[in-house]
Amino acid sequence: MTMHSTAPFTIATDGVDPATVPQRVLYTGARMPAIGLGTFGSDHVSGEQVAAAVVGAIGVGYRHLDCAAVYGNEHLIGAALQQVLAGGLRREELWITSKLWNNKHAEEDVIPAFQKSLTDLRLEYLDLYLVHWPFPNHHDPGVDVTARAHNAQPYLHDHYMKTWRQLEKLVDAGLVRHIGVSNMTIAKLKLLLRDARIKPAVNEMELHPHFQQPALFDYVRSQGIEPIGYSPLGSPNRPERDRTPEDTTDIEDPVIMGIADRHGTHPALVCLKWAVQRGQTPIPMSAKRKNYLANLRAVVEDPLTESEMAAIAAIDRNCRLIKGQVFLWRENQNWQDLWDEDGEIAQ
Ligand SMILES: NC(=O)c1ccc[n+]([C@@H]2O[C@H](COP(=O)([O-])OP(=O)(O)OC[C@H]3O[C@@H](n4cnc5c(N)ncnc54)[C@H](OP(=O)(O)O)[C@@H]3O)[C@@H](O)[C@H]2O)c1
Repeated sequence: MTMHSTAPFTIATDGVDPATVPQRVLYTGARMPAIGLGTFGSDHVSGEQVAAAVVGAIGVGYRHLDCAAVYGNEHLIGAALQQVLAGGLRREELWITSKLWNNKHAEEDVIPAFQKSLTDLRLEYLDLYLVHWPFPNHHDPGVDVTARAHNAQPYLHDHYMKTWRQLEKLVDAGLVRHIGVSNMTIAKLKLLLRDARIKPAVNEMELHPHFQQPALFDYVRSQGIEPIGYSPLGSPNRPERDRTPEDTTDIEDPVIMGIADRHGTHPALVCLKWAVQRGQTPIPMSAKRKNYLANLRAVVEDPLTESEMAAIAAIDRNCRLIKGQVFLWRENQNWQDLWDEDGEIAQ
């Protein structure tokens, strides 16, 4: 059992008061901090480094963590959380997300997989639990872009609903406050919204200035679903399997660099200001104190002007970085088949 200190948790003197960080109000009325810390080490930052960043980030004022079983570090993050909770932070002050990995979609696997995350994180409940991808197609960490699961499948709505019913049970049991989805499309979300008893509170989706997904962004918000934006800086250190020659680099865009110059700041911080002001919840990852602190500060000070927001709206290049090739289910498919670009769910 965690021993709790009676002294209040103190924020570093150069940190940010969490009360000043913008919040999103979910359809349940719950409040989620509008920026979180990503915890995927992109196959090169160790779990220990990520866990140390979690302690440091909470110490400078982060209250929202984006975790996932597949990141392979939840047991280390759990020890980090125990440390901050023993230091006087109250559990209710944190927003903790985790995600069900693709090899645990089978009805009987969902609740044990959730329990494993909860135990690893050393928590009694999660604020948010997501289905990480709408495909049950597993790949091992560190594989290249040609890897395929031997039993790979397309999106099968009946199967997805069986998984979703188990997530709904977790809400009923009080083990998770909200459930949600990730990497969904409008076509898939329409089916889920038709059939869900408990509707998704968020869609975690790739969002950065060169990939603004305006139609999906507007759709989820029109349904009372909050968009959480992953790879908000354009994931400059993403794994090799997620790079293609046509990818563009947000933080080298002249418009982003020009705005950064005017504000005397780094282009990465312009991406985050834009994200929070537009209405999504970015979850930037850094294991470096200087960067994660700057990322949090960026969203509480020196906002972008309306004309800067408009200039960024105009540089969308529809450049998806996390294309998901490893989740394809047949030979000779294109990654576009994962994303229902023509409004139809590819089979
Ligand atoms: N749901 C999903 O399928 C999904 C997919 C991808 C990612 N995610 C989540 O989203 C999180 C973030 O995405 P991501 O890690 O792909 O990309 P990202 O946050 O766009 O980029 C992270 C990279 O940017 C660098 N960086 C961070 N702050 C910086 C700053 N202020 N100045 C300059 N460079 C900076 C970091 O390097 P340094 O360490 O050198 O600072 C890090 O390598 C992940 O950690 C994960 O939690 C979810």
